[in-house]
Amino acid sequence: MGRINDIVIAPSILSADFSNISDALRIIKEGGTGWVHLDVMDGEFVPNITFGPKMVYDLRKITEFILDTHLMIIKPERYIKQFADAGSDYITIHFESTIHVHKALMLIKDSGKKAGISIIPSTPVSAIKEILPFIDLVLVMSVNPGFGGQKLIAETLNKIKMLKEIRTHEGYNYKIEIDGGITRENCKNAVDAGVDIIVAGSTIFNAADPAEEIKHLRNCK
Ligand code: DX5
Ligand code: ZN
Repeated sequence: MGRINDIVIAPSILSADFSNISDALRIIKEGGTGWVHLDVMDGEFVPNITFGPKMVYDLRKITEFILDTHLMIIKPERYIKQFADAGSDYITIHFESTIHVHKALMLIKDSGKKAGISIIPSTPVSAIKEILPFIDLVLVMSVNPGFGGQKLIAETLNKIKMLKEIRTHEGYNYKIEIDGGITRENCKNAVDAGVDIIVAGSTIFNAADPAEEIKHLRNCK
């Protein structure tokens, strides 16, 4: 589900109407994808606050979509169990958000969930080299995290190419996801760089026809 060109579109509800999240799910279904990207922000790791595990819990009750939880919070290990119990499928933490990255990732795996690591634009791929064998997903931030609607930083696409090369060379299994500033116009650059999953928030939910916009992104070539 949600795969054309083998690319998954993961709509971020950050730009959806928080008072009507069920409608966002309806749009996502109509757009033909099966992922929802959930941006959790604590006002400290990033200068914005969104929602916590209860959002995941409530969504889990009403959808079978893959819940792709992106934790932009300091010391995420404090909340991994809660996000796992709430029903996340993927839990992604930031390399920059804790000293004990490997330990936090193992907590996610031990909870039976897929473990992701994310890097902000200033963090090089080399920083996460040692943990690549242990993970299911790498989330490359193509904007500085915190807000939807920012412009994609083109230089971050090189990291996707590098991660794809390393995966092939070492025989690793992680998926590569891009997050931030994706539009109809630039999605092809991400596809060409080698992403498996594209997150998009404002492009979808600010569009005149959000479901149609998801279909456009799914057909990005
Ligand atoms: C930003 C979030 C993104 C955000 C992307 O910190 O991690 O997931 O929703 O929004 P757009 O697609 O509008 O850049
Ligand atoms: Zn995100």
